[in-house]
Amino acid sequence: METSELAVIKLFVVGILVNTWMMKGLSATESFNVEPTPPRPKKVCNESRLQWEVEICGENFKKDMVHIDPQYWCNLTHFISEYHLFTLCTETKSLSVGCYWPNPLVEGYIIGIHKHFFFNCTMKLEGWVDPPDDTLIILILIPVFLTLAMIALVVWCSKRSDILA
Ligand SMILES: *[C@@H]1O[C@H](CO)[C@@H](O)[C@H](O)[C@H]1NC(C)=O
Ligand SMILES: *[C@@H]1O[C@H](CO)[C@@H](O)[C@H](O)[C@H]1NC(C)=O
Ligand SMILES: *[C@@H]1O[C@H](CO)[C@@H](O)[C@H](O)[C@H]1NC(C)=O
Repeated sequence: METSELAVIKLFVVGILVNTWMMKGLSATESFNVEPTPPRPKKVCNESRLQWEVEICGENFKKDMVHIDPQYWCNLTHFISEYHLFTLCTETKSLSVGCYWPNPLVEGYIIGIHKHFFFNCTMKLEGWVDPPDDTLIILILIPVFLTLAMIALVVWCSKRSDILA
């Protein structure tokens, strides 16, 4: 059980990181296309400030989770939007204090959050005959594919406007 639990958590982390990485690519493409490329202020990553900012994101996420019935905490569909807000928050804060995103500090914090909220889930999962790996994979892949579709759309639109211009 221990290894499969770990595998599920790992899969989840990887899925989120892949997805957020794609979102990062998307927003980069968007700002490249839409904004008149403001020169990015060159700041040095202040890790102590980042730690503090990311903890605020985590506190907000914990506050959001309180509003969700704990019996649904292991059901991704019930908190995926809160979770998305949380990762978005860590990204915004990272960039605002001049850090790359994702970065080891943020990743470590996210994994800590996972351990906190998934700890009881793994207990519950033991009662299930089949761990819902398939469900989890699908839930991870849906946002990934949505992101891919959006990237494709943005690229297609920019190509189209290139041709029209
Ligand atoms: C980093 O941020 C903290 C808190 O805002 C501040 O006290 C510290 O001087 C900053 N360090 C650097 C190197 O800018
Ligand atoms: C998760 O919640 C959704 C929506 O309420 C429900 O349809 C689904 O069956 C739940 N999944 C599990 C594994 O409990
Ligand atoms: C996990 O379950 C224990 C016992 O039911 C409870 O005391 C604890 O608050 C729970 N933790 C989380 C993060 O849900």
